[in-house]
Amino acid sequence: ALPQSPQLFKQLLMVAGFDRYYQITKCFRDEDLRADRQPEFTQIDIETSFLNEDEIMDITETMAQEIFRDVLSVELGKFPRMTYNDAMFYYGSDKPDLRVSLKFTELTDLMKTEEFKVFRGAADMPNGRVVALRVPGGASLSRKEIDDYTQFVGIYGAKGLAYIKVNDNSKITNDETSGLQSPIVKFLSVNALSEIIARTGAENGDLIFFGADKAKVVNEAIGALRIKIGHERGEAGGYFVREWRPLWVVDFPMFEYDEDDDRWTACHHPFTSPKPGHEDLMDTDPGQCLARAYDMVLNGWEIGGGSVRIHRADVQEKVFAALKISPEEQQNKFGFLLDNLKFGAPPHGGLAFGLDRLVTLMCGAESIRDVIAFPKTQRAQCLLTNAPNAVDEKQLRELNLRLRQKAETPAA
Ligand code: AMO
Ligand code: AMP
Repeated sequence: ALPQSPQLFKQLLMVAGFDRYYQITKCFRDEDLRADRQPEFTQIDIETSFLNEDEIMDITETMAQEIFRDVLSVELGKFPRMTYNDAMFYYGSDKPDLRVSLKFTELTDLMKTEEFKVFRGAADMPNGRVVALRVPGGASLSRKEIDDYTQFVGIYGAKGLAYIKVNDNSKITNDETSGLQSPIVKFLSVNALSEIIARTGAENGDLIFFGADKAKVVNEAIGALRIKIGHERGEAGGYFVREWRPLWVVDFPMFEYDEDDDRWTACHHPFTSPKPGHEDLMDTDPGQCLARAYDMVLNGWEIGGGSVRIHRADVQEKVFAALKISPEEQQNKFGFLLDNLKFGAPPHGGLAFGLDRLVTLMCGAESIRDVIAFPKTQRAQCLLTNAPNAVDEKQLRELNLRLRQKAETPAA
């Protein structure tokens, strides 16, 4: 069930001396489905020998520019580059929708000395974060609208959505005389309130939302809120542009920590090279190890992703070890790759575009289901052929399969 099936084969082709690979290929993945994901989709899959990340990004950026020029008469211009750290810091997402100009304001440091439990508790957590999101003109939001946004961030695990309406930013006190209208000003010091106004640059008539929790929850909840408010109110409020906003996200971490499984997993895929000089961090501090990986992002969608690969067996073994894949398992599952890397593999790398996502955006469709013939539902069912469906006894026998009875759930 390796989800990266074309990946290893295109690398082996590089080892074999085919120094350019280009394929439009069907991919199959077992993932949670969303508007931009299907279990069966199409990639434009590219691999090259002897090119570094800048060269691969240049070629594929030119390709995206030409597609938009030829098909839509749109000039995308040069793609800006943003580090993964900046993307998470300012937008809470590794695929920021830059049509929305709202940014997060960091408050974690400030809240470490405040009494207000909701903010202080998050600021003191090892993986905690407190941010503000200034909404220009947001003071006109009604109670009901704020309640709806509070419910919305709840989908992402946020336990609340504190806010301050800025009525008069020359009157910053934490009592009834305050120009700041909010259920929480009485819990915050005047110093903190002044600092919040200064850092966000909030003007009279604005509203400031707050997220405080584990960084993952804050990033997802306030990141989604940023997009929602940007799309709903941004055009009128001057913080949304109806244009194409491509960018590259670079300097991804090599690994991310999987809390459920209590282990490190590869951020892109396990065949991605660490940055030069970062090899030893894999043992000592995996969370700080950066990868030679890059994503092409357009209007909040990841339309392509790739990396420079590992071309040395010893480095590949180190990555497997960091992922807790034992030497036996490495040989069992990836022996063919490790052996090939020992035959003098050239440096190589590539990228894959999500063809369906590209087409969805270019058509102005909402979901990739709208541009795929015979798409699957959110539950990966095909409504046309009614699949998956029951198989008969004869088919099971041919495959030597026996069905297990679903275990009874024990009574509570
Ligand atoms: P990655 O997993 O980032 O990289 O996929 C590349 C691109 O394929 C698209 N994509 C999808 N589209 C629809 N439904 C899905 N379930 C889905 N999953 C991915 C995205 C994504 O950017 N082998 C590497 C590429 C490489 O390193 O060269 C890979 O597959 O647009
Ligand atoms: P409480 O003290 O729980 O009544 O919360 C006071 C205010 O803080 C309310 O406006 C809540 O919506 C908000 N709030 C509670 N928890 C959080 C949180 N984790 N992040 C942001 N705001 C929160």
